[in-house]
Amino acid sequence: MSRTRVRDLLKSNGEDVVLRGWLYNRRSSKKFHFLLLRDGSGIVQCIVTRAEMDEEAFLEIGKIPYESSIEIHGKANADERSPGGVEVHATKVEVISEAEEYPISKQEHGPDFLLSNRHLWLRSKKQVAVMHIRNEVLRAIRDDMYEQGFQCIDAPIFTPNSCEGTSTLFEVDYFDDDKAYLTQSGQLYMEAAAMAFGDVYCLGPTFRAEKSKTRRHLTEFWMFEPEMAFADLDDVMNLAESMLCKITTRVIENCKEDLEVLERDVDILKKITGPFPRLSYSEAVERLNAEGHAFEWGGDLGAKDEAIISSWFDTPVMVHRYPQEVKAFYMKRDPEDSKVALGVDVLAPEGYGEIIGGGQREDSLETLLGRIHEHELDPEDFAWYLDLRRYGSVPHGGFGLGVERTVCWLAGIEHVRECVPFPRMLYRIYP
Ligand code: 4AD
Ligand code: MG
Repeated sequence: MSRTRVRDLLKSNGEDVVLRGWLYNRRSSKKFHFLLLRDGSGIVQCIVTRAEMDEEAFLEIGKIPYESSIEIHGKANADERSPGGVEVHATKVEVISEAEEYPISKQEHGPDFLLSNRHLWLRSKKQVAVMHIRNEVLRAIRDDMYEQGFQCIDAPIFTPNSCEGTSTLFEVDYFDDDKAYLTQSGQLYMEAAAMAFGDVYCLGPTFRAEKSKTRRHLTEFWMFEPEMAFADLDDVMNLAESMLCKITTRVIENCKEDLEVLERDVDILKKITGPFPRLSYSEAVERLNAEGHAFEWGGDLGAKDEAIISSWFDTPVMVHRYPQEVKAFYMKRDPEDSKVALGVDVLAPEGYGEIIGGGQREDSLETLLGRIHEHELDPEDFAWYLDLRRYGSVPHGGFGLGVERTVCWLAGIEHVRECVPFPRMLYRIYP
């Protein structure tokens, strides 16, 4: 008899089924065992009745250690009161592999213990819910890009130079005394690809050797980076806005149970419909000062400033036109005000901070060369990138969306480390 997945059980109402999975929990009384079986697709309650079973077998079932892998034979019964709307009347329980004493119990554990046991922690209800949401976010992005005719162009991971400044590069040996760096962003390659395909994106791991120990920083994180030819800052903001709305809608629609497990307030997410407020950096600074938070024009916004700005709104807010000094060499300056760069950061509500950074790129060869010198970068390293301004340069732009930060906000959890299957952080690379 072929096995049934827990998520499909309802379709087998009244039928004999075989389930395979792991023993998640058990409650026992004199006459019954209530076993919770999880199989990755869901969790179902299976009822074992003493009167219907061999006495010895009944007692053995009461001793099966948690997380043992088991096979259960029984009959599926639709029942509105049980979670998932169905339970199983078990007639036979077989142990496939008996587990040793499981290190994660139902009581509270510290984060270090859980992170060191990430390979097991991933089985927990809450972690499963977060990974479901991550999966939906990634799918929503890819589906939308496909529908809008963006080409997926994968960016390389080994790169010969930096994109987001040299201070956060991971260096690796690359044959014959050469050095390579793990990519900080696929952007420069997406700019080349946009000149070949028009609208493109990449979606993959990126790396930052940041010595930051905050709830928002990973050393390896995933980034979605669309790039458009013939686009200005407004086009970039429009795409960021529509993408965030679509992702949120998809998560609300397809991750109902997961949001419930996480006790996420869905009404807050339902407000993410757009349009989002667009605030220039100067306007933001003015309002900060007006509200008594002293902030000098010219500096980068810190996490605290971002939290205050986002508290003004129920939706993400787009802060644009930052002082050019705080932004990367490739950002185009505003022709109307050369002190500011045509960049945008999108700040998530509820204090989750920056989830998107992007903008319009410098498209003039001379100006870009000037920036490269100002930032004390070697023009030789950027010869190919400069070529894009030599052969048919066009206004263009895009952004990078941090996948873990976006999932963290949507799932309403505390720390990005729970938003990636195996987090890499300062002082943490195991398991
Ligand atoms: O603002 P960032 O540094 O922008 C870029 O890298 C651009 N080159 C992207 C582009 O225009 N194509 O990073 C973009 C986003 C941030 O808004 C944040 O969500 C995420 O990447 N991010 C991180 N997420 C987790 N851990 C870190 N250390 C992160 N650094 C950035
Ligand atoms: Mg940024």
